[in-house]
Amino acid sequence: MQKLRNILIQTTLLCMIGCNSEPPTIDDLGLVPLPASISINKGQTLINSQWAVTQNNGHKDLNSLKIMLSENLYSDYGLSVSDFSRKTINLNVIEDNTFYGEEGYHLTISNKTIQINAGTPNGIFYGIQTFRQLLDSGKKSSEGIQINRIVIKDNPRFQWRGMHLDVGRHFFDIEFVKRYIDYIAMHKMNIFHWHLTEDQGWRVEIDAYPKLTSISAFRDESLIGHYTDKPHQYDGKRYGGYYTKEEMREVVAYAQKRYVTVVPEIEMPGHTRAVLAAYPELSCTGGPHTVAKYWGVHKEVFCAGKESTFEFLETVLTEVADIFPGPYIHIGGDECSKDRWEEHDLDQERIKANGLHDEHELQSYFIKRIEGVLNNLGKRLIGWDEILEGGLAPRAIVQSWRGMEGGIAAANAGHEVIMSPTSHAYFDYYQSEDIKNEPLAIGGFLSLEKVYNFEPIPDNIEPSKKEFILGGQGNLWTEYIKTPEKAEYMVLPRMSAMAEVLWSLKKDRDFDSFTHRMNWQYKRLDRMKVNYRTPE
Ligand code: ACM
Repeated sequence: MQKLRNILIQTTLLCMIGCNSEPPTIDDLGLVPLPASISINKGQTLINSQWAVTQNNGHKDLNSLKIMLSENLYSDYGLSVSDFSRKTINLNVIEDNTFYGEEGYHLTISNKTIQINAGTPNGIFYGIQTFRQLLDSGKKSSEGIQINRIVIKDNPRFQWRGMHLDVGRHFFDIEFVKRYIDYIAMHKMNIFHWHLTEDQGWRVEIDAYPKLTSISAFRDESLIGHYTDKPHQYDGKRYGGYYTKEEMREVVAYAQKRYVTVVPEIEMPGHTRAVLAAYPELSCTGGPHTVAKYWGVHKEVFCAGKESTFEFLETVLTEVADIFPGPYIHIGGDECSKDRWEEHDLDQERIKANGLHDEHELQSYFIKRIEGVLNNLGKRLIGWDEILEGGLAPRAIVQSWRGMEGGIAAANAGHEVIMSPTSHAYFDYYQSEDIKNEPLAIGGFLSLEKVYNFEPIPDNIEPSKKEFILGGQGNLWTEYIKTPEKAEYMVLPRMSAMAEVLWSLKKDRDFDSFTHRMNWQYKRLDRMKVNYRTPE
């Protein structure tokens, strides 16, 4: 779409006396994700340490936003702004958010004022991110930074703009988790989906079940190379780790300051070998079991016939709900082998006693019971699209990953949906077809451009059901990702493309424009010392 590049700068008189350079194009502002509406006015404003950051009312969050912006100006550009000046960057919450939306903002750069208005502190936070990006693309001199006089009116297209991180296959410490949240926030994304439990490791401290951290959090060794390399070889090194409650609360508080909701995922009924290693009585066979040391789908899953499984999970989820104040808990639900349930008398009795037809309906029974537990804790249940099989729990949100079909079926049935199909949202896939020159990945190929062309609302969804698509999410599974540097390499810049898909207007989507604007994004990532992949 040339439109964007061709949007003529909305000045009535483009170049008047005193105008000594070509007017910038919208792309030259280097904004990612692209705001909904931008008008560039005549003239430039010089930002330097003679400015102050102020706030218009005593909203409790505005003071910390003011401090955060002042710190950003200093750390990014060495500008020491004050509290009082004739020139002000003014943060203003107008508590009537029908005008701006929950997350929208207006940013006006004029001669002596930079005004950020929003209906919520969250909107102000996003206005601040845009202002920082304008400084990045501004003209630097010893006098300060010249930025264009501009009016931006902005609002996200989708309410769910997520990024996922698997810390079960490989463990990432909270310093990296906070950096990951920084990347989410700078992209105006708002969900951190923290995949906390896996066959290969349980990462959450639970007071009632101490063996989850003494046993389930560690495996004896890990697979070397790719799963398809046979015979399998192992490194012989014990591996693991977990987060204390205090650390998880610290992450939640860090995310809250950046308007990011943390969605914890506690997997069930499958992907639970690590739990069963510590509490084998919750399995169908009674064990013994070990924490898995290779990837894939495992046969050992929670027994759905034993009441003790549900008692265990209710206790665990109650503690998890206490750590994570957000409205959602993800319970996984994907890739649950039915082999053990088919063989086990208690599971078969459960099927009979409840008039269920098969093991898929038994999984549905399991998820519906867990939904009841979560609803009593004041939480909404999210599950991968397998939770559709055997019948969907009444208020469940479906995360579609095996394509878009699960999401379409769920939305058409009136359920809320998060779209994250492998085809466009799996950032563990290779970024180039030339895999010899790429670090080992799980497989697949997902280019930056393909992510950019992702459309979360498919055409074949009933028009009245489109509103059920909450948004989308990029996922990072870490079987082949052991270090923060590699995690950064895999998510960036694809995450920037996903952010634009989820924030910006569909009609403005233009890969050439995005590629041009990304030049400034790479400079930002350089400043943050991020190990992103440089596209061809
Ligand atoms: C998944 O990738 N198994 C949700």
